[in-house]
Amino acid sequence: MAAGLKAMARRRAPAPAAGPPASITAPKSDRANLLDLSGKHALIIGVANKRSIAWAIAQALSRSGVRIALTYPSARLEENVRELAASLDNPLVLPCDVAVDQQIVELGAAIDGEFGGLDFFVHGAAFARAEELDAPFSQTTREGFRIALDVSAYSFIALARAVRPLMQKRGGGSMLTLTYLGSERVFKNYNVMGVAKAALEASVRYLAAELGADNIRVNAISAGPIKTLAAMGISGFSSILGVYRERSPLGRNIDASEVADAAVFLLGPGGRAITAEVLMVDAGFHAVGLV
Ligand SMILES: NC(=O)c1ccc[n+]([C@@H]2O[C@H](COP(=O)([O-])OP(=O)(O)OC[C@H]3O[C@@H](n4cnc5c(N)ncnc54)[C@H](O)[C@@H]3O)[C@@H](O)[C@H]2O)c1
Repeated sequence: MAAGLKAMARRRAPAPAAGPPASITAPKSDRANLLDLSGKHALIIGVANKRSIAWAIAQALSRSGVRIALTYPSARLEENVRELAASLDNPLVLPCDVAVDQQIVELGAAIDGEFGGLDFFVHGAAFARAEELDAPFSQTTREGFRIALDVSAYSFIALARAVRPLMQKRGGGSMLTLTYLGSERVFKNYNVMGVAKAALEASVRYLAAELGADNIRVNAISAGPIKTLAAMGISGFSSILGVYRERSPLGRNIDASEVADAAVFLLGPGGRAITAEVLMVDAGFHAVGLV
């Protein structure tokens, strides 16, 4: 009994007055300033053209005062990316094929040289070979599996490792990747990409657990279907759009600017207590069974 009371007393000991470390408390700004990210720097991977979700995020961050670095994976896409970047304020444009370790290391060094650190990292790279998406799932090849998981999931880990020291210089930062509900449920023709997204979402949790000590948050946005270059590689994509319109609670599809607004919230001070999270931005489709 006495031992039990002692244990209770120990449990009831007053909590230390300190509260959360100063570095992760809200800035003393008022709420109107939650969207003011002036002076911050972001690396955004995954802009291919003006329909890219990553491009919508780049524009939204830029409107909030963030200086942006964009990347292109190959010479074929460089001109596109440079043209888009020209509409941003003082952008940095660098090469990075996320399947090549050396390019990731060089990207980190180039960004550090120019920005002297980094506040935000947005990962919007994904790829699977057309044949893996078209064939029945059981026909997934070893090489097709490797490529999809490498580009779409492992690259987030490798890039997180490269930008971590840059975020440490700033006393913390925020990372965000883009995923899809195909990680949890079966969608026709999504196939190996669903497996890659499951690995990506698990990586978000493991990275968040490790990088929290550096005041770095790691999250994902799971977006509803949007007509982009990557999406058009999935046969029957238009019919997926129709199903979402019909069944989602909001009765409509979403657009990239809506993902971008959620991204600015999650990356910025509004999301300061959120990490290891997969935020659904899909008009509520994920919640619906049979209604
Ligand atoms: N469009 C959708 O319906 C939808 C829904 C949910 C999630 N997502 C995800 O959003 C992210 C962005 O896709 P999107 O729909 O904007 O299409 P997108 O085609 O515009 O973007 C995909 C990007 O991946 C890049 N990429 C592919 N291989 C690469 C490599 N080796 N190195 C560097 N970059 C590489 C491409 O260059 C492109 O910029 C992807 O992760 C995608 O899975 C898309």
